[in-house]
Amino acid sequence: MSTEAEQFERISTRVFQNSSAAAQEVAGEIADLIKRRSKEGKQAVLGLATGSTPLPVYQELVRLHREENLSFRNVVTFNLDEYYGLNTDHPESYHQFMWQRLFSKVDIPEDQVHLPSGTVKRTKVFASCASYDEAINKVGGLDYQILGIGRTGHIGFNEPGSTRDSKTRLVSLDALTRRDAARDFLGEANVPRYAITMGVGTILKADRTVLMAWGQAKAGVVQQAVEEAPNENLPAGLLQGHKDVRFFIDEPASELLTRIRIPWLVGPVDWDKRTIRKAVLWLSKKTQKPILKLQDSDYNEFGLGELLTEVGPAYDLNISVFNQTQHTITGWPGGKPNADDSNRPERATPFPKRVLVLAPEPDEDVLCMGGTIHRLKSQGSEVTLAYLTSGNLAVPDSMARQILSLMSEMESQLNLKNAEDFSLGQVASVLLTELQDSGSNAGDSKPIRQVKSLVRRNEAGDASHNLKIAKESLHFLDLPFYENGRYRAFHATDEDQEKLVALLREVKPHQIYFTGAHADPGSVSGVGYFLLKQALKEVSNDPWIKDTNLWSYRGIGQEWPLFEIDMAVPLSPDELNLKVEASFQYRSQRRQFPLRDSAHKEIWQQTDELNRNTAAAYDQVGMAEYEAIEAFKRINLTEVLES
Ligand code: GLP
Repeated sequence: MSTEAEQFERISTRVFQNSSAAAQEVAGEIADLIKRRSKEGKQAVLGLATGSTPLPVYQELVRLHREENLSFRNVVTFNLDEYYGLNTDHPESYHQFMWQRLFSKVDIPEDQVHLPSGTVKRTKVFASCASYDEAINKVGGLDYQILGIGRTGHIGFNEPGSTRDSKTRLVSLDALTRRDAARDFLGEANVPRYAITMGVGTILKADRTVLMAWGQAKAGVVQQAVEEAPNENLPAGLLQGHKDVRFFIDEPASELLTRIRIPWLVGPVDWDKRTIRKAVLWLSKKTQKPILKLQDSDYNEFGLGELLTEVGPAYDLNISVFNQTQHTITGWPGGKPNADDSNRPERATPFPKRVLVLAPEPDEDVLCMGGTIHRLKSQGSEVTLAYLTSGNLAVPDSMARQILSLMSEMESQLNLKNAEDFSLGQVASVLLTELQDSGSNAGDSKPIRQVKSLVRRNEAGDASHNLKIAKESLHFLDLPFYENGRYRAFHATDEDQEKLVALLREVKPHQIYFTGAHADPGSVSGVGYFLLKQALKEVSNDPWIKDTNLWSYRGIGQEWPLFEIDMAVPLSPDELNLKVEASFQYRSQRRQFPLRDSAHKEIWQQTDELNRNTAAAYDQVGMAEYEAIEAFKRINLTEVLES
C-alpha cells in the first residue's frame, strides 16, 4: 500500500540514509530466506548481480557467514550475465568477480554456482542460453533476485530495446555501457562488445526482486523506471509488471523522484527556509520569470498556494529568496578582509586563511573549482591542493608507452648511457617490453603504475602552475586503497585514514573543499568521502577544527541545483579561459579515440559548459549575468559526522 508521498511511484521504493543500511537489509532478507529453506530441508535459489552496487550486500553476507554461522550449503545461485569472449580467469570476467567477492569466501558447493558461459562457441550460444533458463526452471525458479541498474536503465545486460518476455541470450552492449566499463578494462577499446544476459522475462519470473541503486549518477534512470509508464526503452521500468519488486536506493539516487524534487505537488510540506528557497527557485524556473516578478497568481497556478497562505504574500517570499540567493554570490571565496561579512558566505577573519582542497584524483580540483583556487591564491590565502589518489588506473598504456620510449630513445640518441650503471634508459626499455607483452587487461605491475602516477603528478604540477599554485603546495597522498585496488574493488583501510588525519593535522585548514558525498560509495570519490568522514571524526576534538568551514563541490555532470548553493563564485571570461587552459594539461585524461558521437564531450568542454550553465541559471532567476560560476554548498561538521 503506497503512501500519499509515493503516489507518483509505480514501484515500491525505499530511500535509505546510505547504501550500507540498505545493503544490510537486503543481506538480512537473503539470510532469512536461506535459513528458512534450510530448516525445511530445501534449497534457496538466488539470482545474483555484479557491478559495484551489490558489493556491500556480498560483504555483509560474508560477515554473516563468518561471524554468525550463516551457511550457504543449501544455496544455488544464477548470475545475471557475463561478458562474451572473456575467459573465466580474466580479471574483469564476472566469474572472477563473483568468486573473489563472494563464492570463495563462503561454503557454497561449486556445482551449485551458475554463471552464463562467455566462452561458448558462437554456434552453441543459443543452445547454451536455453539450457541456462532450463536450469533455473529445473530448480524451481529464482526465489530472490538482486539487481543493479546501468545508466542506460539496463538490468543485467538487457539494454534499451529488450522486450518484456526476452530470455537469456547474446546481446550487444550499448555505447554508454561500454564507456562506463572503460575504466575497468583500462580503455574503451578493450571493453567487449557483446555479453550474455538473463532476459527480462527470466528476471520477471523470480519470486522477489530487489533493485539497488547508489549515488546521484543513477537518479535519472531510477526516476524514469519508478515513475514513467513502462516501455522497452528503459528495461528497468519493465519491472513494474513484477508481482514483488522493490527498489532500495540511497538519498542521492532518490534526488529526482517527484516526492523529493517537488514535494509540494505531492502532499503537505513542512515549510522551512530550505524548502521555501527550493520552491521559489523552482517556480522562477518553471515560469521563466525572475524571482522578483513572481506574482501570487503564479504561486497559485503552480501548486504553491499553500506556501502563499503560510508564509506569503508573493512579494515577501520573493524578496526573501532573492536576497538569500544574492548573498550566495561572492568574488571572495576565502572571505573579504576588513569587510562586513554578515551577508557573505565566508567570514572575513581570520585572513589570510589556510585552505585545503581535496581532490579524489588529480584533475578534479581544476575541473570543478579551478577558478576558485586561482582566486583564493591571488587574494592571499595559503592554498594546499591534496590529491587523495595517484589516478594511475586512468592513464592509458599508450601514454606510458610514449614516455618510456622517449626515455629509452633519448638515451641512445643523445648518447647518455653510462655503461657502468644500470641506466634510466635501460629501465625504460625493460618496462616498455613489459607493456608491449602484457595483454591489454592484465593489471599493471607496480613500476608501470608508478610511471602512470608520475604522468598524472606532472600534469597536476603543470595545471596548478597555470593557476599560480607552487609545486610545494601540492600533496600527493597516493592512498593505499587505490594503489592496491582496482575499479569496483576499493577497500578503505586504517592506513588511508591515518594519512588523511596526518594531512588535516598538518594543514589545520580554515576551509576544506571536498567532494564525493553524492557519488557511488564504491567509486574513487565515494571512498574518498568516506575516508574524509572518518578522518574528521578522529580530529573532531582538535581545537582548530571548530574554526574550519567545510565546502562541498560536485563533479562534472552532477552540478549543485540552485537551491543547494551556499557560495557561488563568478568567473570572468579570462578566468574561465585560464581554467580551461589548466584543464588542458591533463593530457592523459583526454579521450583516446576520435569523437564519433558528438554528444560525448571532452572533459574540459564539459567543465566549461557546466560553469556557464550555473551562471545562466543565476541569470534566469534574476541575478546579475556572469560568464561562469563555480558553486559550493556549506556542510556542517555534525552533518558530515552523522551521515
Ligand atoms: C553492468 C552489469 C549490471 C550492473 C551495471 C551497473 O552493466 N551488467 O548488472 O547493474 O553494470 O554497475 P554498477 O553497479 O557498478 O553501477
